Amino acid sequence: MSDTINVLLIGGGGREHALAIKLRQSKRLGELWITHPENAGLAKLGKPVDVPVSIREIYRLQQFCDKNNIGLVVIGPEDPLAEGYADKLAAPGRLVFGPTAEAAKLESDKAWAKQLMKSSSIPTGDARIFTDARAAKDYLASREHPPALEGKAQKIAGKAAAELPPVIKAAGLAKGKGVIVPATFKEANEAIDRIMVAKEFGEAGARVVIEERLEGPEVSVLAIVDGHNILVLPPCQDHKRLLDGDKGPNTGGMGAYCPAPIIDDATLAIVERDVLVATLDALRREGIEYKGVLYAGIMLTAAGPKVLEFNCRFGDPECQPLMARLNSDIIELLCAACTGTLDKIDVEWDERPACCVVMAARGYPDKPKKGAVIEGLDAAAKVKDTSVTIAGATRTKDGTVAVSGGRVLGVTSLGDTIADARARAYEACDKITFEGAQFRRDIAARST
Ligand code: AMP
Ligand code: GLY
Repeated sequence: MSDTINVLLIGGGGREHALAIKLRQSKRLGELWITHPENAGLAKLGKPVDVPVSIREIYRLQQFCDKNNIGLVVIGPEDPLAEGYADKLAAPGRLVFGPTAEAAKLESDKAWAKQLMKSSSIPTGDARIFTDARAAKDYLASREHPPALEGKAQKIAGKAAAELPPVIKAAGLAKGKGVIVPATFKEANEAIDRIMVAKEFGEAGARVVIEERLEGPEVSVLAIVDGHNILVLPPCQDHKRLLDGDKGPNTGGMGAYCPAPIIDDATLAIVERDVLVATLDALRREGIEYKGVLYAGIMLTAAGPKVLEFNCRFGDPECQPLMARLNSDIIELLCAACTGTLDKIDVEWDERPACCVVMAARGYPDKPKKGAVIEGLDAAAKVKDTSVTIAGATRTKDGTVAVSGGRVLGVTSLGDTIADARARAYEACDKITFEGAQFRRDIAARST
């Protein structure tokens, strides 16, 4: 199989730019089409589709694929997967990388995913699901003030009352913002109001999941799944909080590195067996076949690894260090996932670790400010074994590249050690300037 194949890449962030760079390196690539030419990085690598991209007019994209002989569609983000793009774009002679809408419910419906995990004894925090704010608050009150107990039991209840409140999650997709980790029960109550009464996340908040508070380091375990076989990718660690030392608000992710030595091989094997394979089995029992990326957000608790969330796609920014390390042809890999032949291919990784530092706009994540001109991109890309992926930056009419989103860039470097990779990434970050740029200085620091 050495024919070339025309590829349509859906999505417009840093993850998709990293995928596009890899697609461009493939010997199998014919033409590369993109849906988001406003991303200055993607615009350089692919041709923009000339039809609207929306599920309501999906027939336009279907016709586009037919006309341009698209053999592979790669869907990057969760929203189009949840909307059913994979279902609608698959056709004879055309492969689609990404799960169906039904399978993507693992990410798009946290309540459903929680029930699936519970019914299959997949390790995760205990949780209750509510459709009514009053009932949710009554439950919180019962957690805050457990009924009085006698003697020893009272001591235990007293301890429980002093514990941190549970985590409040909107069940639906909320652009990564629907999870609130409250510091007090008052904040937990307010979170219920924000989600269910003020409807800050719209319909995504029609149900809430109130989940036991877990503690421990977090690790992202991603696998490529072909319906039968599963290929676990090297583990990554993301940094979700905005500021150094894991302070500040949650974000989409401020940086990631790979591999992440915080998870050892034995624990990774447990995650593969008890989480990834168990989840695919549970889906199969529901009559759902899974193809694409299965991403488990894992917390390494004192009681073993537990699932915080599932995603049905590559992580962003985890995809950037993963793609930097992938030595194999990505089209071979994605096609094998689509055709159930992952067991027939060898996938090779660069031995060297990779580290990605995200540079964000002033005001991110609440109100990112757009328009700042970015300088130094070429100088940064010249740092050895470094690539710069664009997430939210666009080429303006006068030829400059300017901030157009919250997360602006990802700077990814390979190095002989994690310390080398991060030193290189920061050397490159220091060559890039734009007004209000913010980035963490401690990405990967805990593993050096
Ligand atoms: P999620 O989008 O579900 O991964 O949640 C975003 C972030 O919230 C996670 O990366 C964790 O840092 C935190 N989080 C989610 N669930 C819990 C939990 N049960 N206990 C503690 N922290 C959590
Ligand atoms: N980096 C976290 C995510 O992609 O959901």
